Amino acid sequence: MIRIGIVGMGTRGRLFARAVAQNHDATLVAIGDANPQILTEATARFAGPGYTSYRELLEQVRPDALIVATPDVAHCQPVLEAAQRGVHLLVEKPFATTVAEAEQMLEAVERADIFCQVAFENRWNPAFIRARETICRGEVGEVELMNGRLNDTIFVPTRMLYWAAHSTVGWFLLPHLVDLALWLGDKKAVRCYATATKRVLPSLGVDTWDAIQAILSFDDGTQAVFETCWILPTSLPTLFDLKFEIIGQRGALFIDTQDQMIHQAGQTFTYPGTLVTEVDGRLRGFPVDMVDSFIACLVEGRQPMATAHQGLEVTRIVAAVHESVQEERVVFLR
Ligand SMILES: NC(=O)c1ccc[n+]([C@@H]2O[C@H](COP(=O)([O-])OP(=O)(O)OC[C@H]3O[C@@H](n4cnc5c(N)ncnc54)[C@H](O)[C@@H]3O)[C@@H](O)[C@H]2O)c1
Repeated sequence: MIRIGIVGMGTRGRLFARAVAQNHDATLVAIGDANPQILTEATARFAGPGYTSYRELLEQVRPDALIVATPDVAHCQPVLEAAQRGVHLLVEKPFATTVAEAEQMLEAVERADIFCQVAFENRWNPAFIRARETICRGEVGEVELMNGRLNDTIFVPTRMLYWAAHSTVGWFLLPHLVDLALWLGDKKAVRCYATATKRVLPSLGVDTWDAIQAILSFDDGTQAVFETCWILPTSLPTLFDLKFEIIGQRGALFIDTQDQMIHQAGQTFTYPGTLVTEVDGRLRGFPVDMVDSFIACLVEGRQPMATAHQGLEVTRIVAAVHESVQEERVVFLR
């Protein structure tokens, strides 16, 4: 039985707690959150001892694995402390928000010889799994262009994430698109150019970018264009809009995960979520599959599907996007 602790009991931590609790090969042994009120609510719901300090959690409970679901800028320290103690890791995206931190984290993981999975959950998302199979079978030919859009409604930075001003739409959303491009295209990014706008969110007291647009070039000439924004109107049918196009030399794939196959009209018009659902009291869907996959890797002693190496690679690219925005120039990655 894999003994798992979770640090950060917000939206993601609570989802992970359910996924771990229903997995027959794992047990949730402790939860941690810096906010005592959130911790009290979480311990009431998930039982188990609760800690406001992840260091205390690690020392007193000695879990086999730790899931890190703290805000974007607070992944590094819990990862380093867990790695020092030989504790396996599932780390939320973004792996880190600086290249220096990501390098330190990878080094700690390698030194400790532990397994570390990064929560690039779209690798478990059925549409992207099928897209990768199609590309690998050569059905679209050599991939030449990738266009990705991952936008959120303004609810996310203004109401959902109390820490939005300490991150950016780039760190929060781009890692998904960049990881998908690397995973689907299997190419190396060599250059990027990005621009951004900052008008609406600062006027609402959230001092961060409204939107970041990036063009990435890969070593074989493949181009990718990525769009992220945090200011879509809340009247949209979902909280997010994720679309991805892969254009190959002999075919193309068009993925739209916003449309969840059911549209509901009433006082408002919504697309009720179907990719994460509850059946027989059990949570189902790709984030749960991702947790199950992590646990299976620990049980079977094999490397996870999304590793700390890939976490560092994505961090390098997203950091270059931010550098390009700040310095208004093309940034070369190698
Ligand atoms: N993989 C995905 O698709 C996906 C989706 C949403 C969020 N995320 C990522 O997951 C992480 C968490 O996001 P969220 O939406 O759950 O945020 P959240 O704000 O709902 O939860 C974060 C929790 O961490 C706690 N916390 C803050 N600092 C801490 C510390 N030092 N030690 C312990 N607890 C601490 C906060 O009190 C809060 O309860 C972020 O990095 C986010 O980008 C990933």
